[in-house]
Amino acid sequence: MIEKIEALQKEVEEFEAESPEQVEAFRIRMLSKKGLIPALFQDFKSVEPAKRKEVGMKLNRLKNLATEKVNQQKEKLEAETRGQAGEVPDLTRPADFAPNGARHPLSVVRNRINSIFEKIGFVVSEGPEIEDDWHNFSALNFPEEHPARDMQDTFFIEKNPDIALRTHTSSVQVRVMEKQKPPIRTISPGRVFRNEAISARAHCIFHQVEGLYIDEGVSFADMKQTLLYFAREMFGEKTQIRLRPSFFPFTEPSAEMDVSCNICGGPGCTICKYSGWIEVMGCGMVDPNVLDNCGIDSKKYTGFAFGMGIERIAMNIFQVKDLRMYFENDIRFLKQFESAI
Ligand code: DAH
Repeated sequence: MIEKIEALQKEVEEFEAESPEQVEAFRIRMLSKKGLIPALFQDFKSVEPAKRKEVGMKLNRLKNLATEKVNQQKEKLEAETRGQAGEVPDLTRPADFAPNGARHPLSVVRNRINSIFEKIGFVVSEGPEIEDDWHNFSALNFPEEHPARDMQDTFFIEKNPDIALRTHTSSVQVRVMEKQKPPIRTISPGRVFRNEAISARAHCIFHQVEGLYIDEGVSFADMKQTLLYFAREMFGEKTQIRLRPSFFPFTEPSAEMDVSCNICGGPGCTICKYSGWIEVMGCGMVDPNVLDNCGIDSKKYTGFAFGMGIERIAMNIFQVKDLRMYFENDIRFLKQFESAI
């Protein structure tokens, strides 16, 4: 048996075909149902047990070798005919360029925001889009009767009112503070959800970037300077900022930050509604209650937080007046951002 296998192996190794017909004849002789190799597999049944392992291995090797040989000979002959028909690839032909995709404008803006803050030591952190009441509201000092908790604003999970789609990325602040000790410098981009009617200026799904800085001795002046740096990197070096007093449950004092209109530069236009200013984010000093809720000693540490809408900034930078365009995925719209990186 072993001699038979070895003889066939030699034959397979030496086989060189000159035509496809010869390859086919070889395949039939060796591998077809009634071929020599399947016949050896039949004989294998009568091999004495002590030799089975060795014979089995050799037989399998022979079968693989023959299969490979058939494929390799077919390929060789095909390559040769291609050559004869003058179908050698033309190496001087210009390459076909695959059409390039482009980043979505909201991703472009998000990446810019991330990298502006990364330059000054902030790290990106993310949290879940499905949140519990604690992380989205309670830990952030929202009173029990706060209207944001209302069904009209928040998408709750039907069977469990403790679970909702997060209404803001401030929930990630809580998660970070629960896990990390100060100093903390983090930004959290992400998708948020609110039960709002869809219009040119509002959508039920949109994106925010949250920022948080906690350490000993962090002051309102630190916040102002950080946000001024951000505004100038984002909207241009001549940009001015102004802070207007505001209210958020999780910051005290709270403010709303406006930037000078980067379109008209101040005198007023349709984009800034003739005020010269554009509102870009909410911010403030983290309320001591929030620090304590998250296990950070509010006597030792202070910090600031801020949150901005990516769509709003993108609308401003790209001068797109209808927010719905960002969600329709109309290729004619998206194509216009191919050069924005
Ligand atoms: N979470 C607020 C919102 O969705 C935005 C915000 C305001 C975030 C002030 C903050 C902040 O961190 O300090 O409207």
